[in-house]
Amino acid sequence: MTKDVSMRRAVAHSSISICMLLVAVHLFGCAGASAPPNANDSVQSAPNDNSNPANGNTDTADTIDAGEANPLLDPLSMPGEATLAMENFRSASQCAACHPNHYNEWRTSMHSYAMIDPVFRALVEARQRDFDGERDRFCTQCHSAIGTRGGDIVEHFSFDELEPITLEGITCESCHKVTGIVRPYNSGHVLDDNAAMHGPIQDPVENAFHESKYSPLHDTSEFCAGCHDVVEQSGLNLERPYEEWVTSPAGEAGRNCQSCHMPTYSGTAVDPAIAEALGAPERDNLHRHWFSGVDLPLTDDFLSEDELEEARARVVALLESAGEIEVTAAPTVVAGGQIDVFVTVRNLIDAHNLPTGSTFNRQLWISVTATDAEGTAIYQTGDLDANGDLRNHFSELDPYGDADLITFNSGFIDADGNPTVYPWKAAEHISNSLAPLYEVTHTFFVPTSPETVGPVTIETRLRFRAFPPFLLRTLGLPQYIDKLDITDIDEATITVEVE
Ligand code: HEC
Ligand code: HEC
Ligand code: HEC
Ligand code: HEC
Ligand code: HEC
Repeated sequence: MTKDVSMRRAVAHSSISICMLLVAVHLFGCAGASAPPNANDSVQSAPNDNSNPANGNTDTADTIDAGEANPLLDPLSMPGEATLAMENFRSASQCAACHPNHYNEWRTSMHSYAMIDPVFRALVEARQRDFDGERDRFCTQCHSAIGTRGGDIVEHFSFDELEPITLEGITCESCHKVTGIVRPYNSGHVLDDNAAMHGPIQDPVENAFHESKYSPLHDTSEFCAGCHDVVEQSGLNLERPYEEWVTSPAGEAGRNCQSCHMPTYSGTAVDPAIAEALGAPERDNLHRHWFSGVDLPLTDDFLSEDELEEARARVVALLESAGEIEVTAAPTVVAGGQIDVFVTVRNLIDAHNLPTGSTFNRQLWISVTATDAEGTAIYQTGDLDANGDLRNHFSELDPYGDADLITFNSGFIDADGNPTVYPWKAAEHISNSLAPLYEVTHTFFVPTSPETVGPVTIETRLRFRAFPPFLLRTLGLPQYIDKLDITDIDEATITVEVE
């Protein structure tokens, strides 16, 4: 794990304006604005409030309802009539014999899970109920561009009745038949059902199965942006890793998404025996198709146990490279006094925020536990209730019970000012995620007892999980709660002597 602190962009200190918003206090628990004892003081190290594009960032929906324009239609990605012939697309399984690595890696990726994902299905079904089917294709335009543009996905569609190629989600040909891009968000790709296989090899060896065409687009971040930046029909920004990347150090240096999410290796682009028969050369710039991120499939039948363990190891390694935590405090305190604990969290990614993408579903938070010389926990924040939830506004057992809780994910506020988990009900999207290479320092105030002297141990952790249990309960998927992992991205411990 890289711990190169010299990379940090820490410049000046200013407090997060978000903490002034009452609703944001409820969402993120940052009570620094009034700074009473036992509340958190937060210091964002950015030149000024606006320079950190996401931290304390609030995005507002234009209108919740777009009005006269038919919200179902978009000539490119949600056409009124089919613009592609479904039968012109081939299943990924047909590529496996010649491209076994690509196939096996893709099969275990979230791209091949995009239409199976029970969380996706439950949310789409909730949207179908809320809009009576009318806006069904909004969610599927990226998760299955082939099914959406090919006419398989229509109003009131049911997942059980979809074609196999639609259920393959982001399958090989939804990327390799892309011939151009018209916008870096909302399924902005030009997808041509008759296209040759577009890819990064400039001098592809011919084969009997498909034509090949060199495509510089496939080696750019814009290619990923077509699906990875998501704007709701209300105009609200939902996901924007590409927008974050454009102004990041990696973006400025031209280091693309693929450089981290599609690591390179040497070998032949086809099975070695086929390579020999066709004269396909050894290449030193092949790309892994795992597309590792933070998510793992929750369903049992998608991966074998070994595949799941391998995928988990890749996710954990990526997360451990993503951030770090540091803790400091004065070495001694008088019994009965208060320990001021300074906790700094840093985003080590120079390409996008931590977290990024669907930050509204993610949880990234600081956990602090202080234990006195007798082994008694004297202070805690970022711990879980008996349901496994953080003790914030979504906790059923201890709502708002953790006043000091600091999270770095985002949250939606509906038109009535209440938190919601449904993107289409959101009027505001408030994000507290950390911009590339930025850090934030929070102060926690730990009280000590006048009676107990000796060392107090303060353990801090930067913790992540892909979904909170309350979300799975809300969506009627409690059976998957046990599958959720918490990853400790980093941890740091100090002791303070109480005299
Ligand atoms: C009969 C074997 C065979 C099958 C089946 C096959 N390919 Fe290929 N493919 C090749 C060969 C050979 C190359 C060229 C490799 C090289 O030059 O190193 C290639 C190259 C490619 C390229 C790179 C093109 C470029 O110029 O960058 C892509 C993308 C690709 N194939 C995708 C697919 C997909 C998707 C499928 C399934 C729908 C598939 N292939 C099925 C043999 C095959
Ligand atoms: C310098 C390496 C690097 C580059 C370049 C990079 N990423 Fe990431 N990405 C990471 C790391 C590390 C994580 C895990 C931490 C996180 O979620 O932010 C991640 C996570 C993600 C996730 C999962 C986020 C979540 O919480 O759901 C997505 C999606 C993603 N990246 C997309 C992109 C896209 C799109 C680009 C290009 C615009 C890109 N990444 C460029 C390193 C990188
Ligand atoms: C999410 C989009 C996406 C999907 C899905 C996808 N690929 Fe790719 N593939 C790419 C990109 C992007 C590159 C080139 C990366 C670069 O040059 O930076 C690539 C490169 C390739 C290459 C060229 C050799 C290499 O490794 O660079 C082959 C062959 C290939 N893919 C085959 C496949 C097959 C077969 C499948 C399905 C089993 C598949 N791809 C699924 C995006 C995708
Ligand atoms: C055709 C649309 C599409 C394209 C193109 C695409 N993605 Fe994705 N990607 C998705 C969707 C949808 C998911 C989420 C699937 C799910 O979990 O249900 C995803 C998931 C991911 C994840 C896993 C995120 C996590 O939370 O673990 C990573 C990483 C990722 N994509 C990277 C990339 C990169 C890098 C590129 C460009 C080379 C790319 N994607 C191109 C649609 C796309
Ligand atoms: C513009 C393309 C696009 C559209 C439209 C889209 N998604 Fe996604 N979806 C993605 C990408 C990319 C990811 C991966 C993001 C990540 O992991 O951070 C994703 C991931 C997901 C996931 C996987 C779990 C998670 O949170 O990462 C769920 C669930 C999901 N989307 C639901 C939806 C729903 C519901 C809608 C409609 C309201 C929708 N998506 C519309 C591109 C899209």
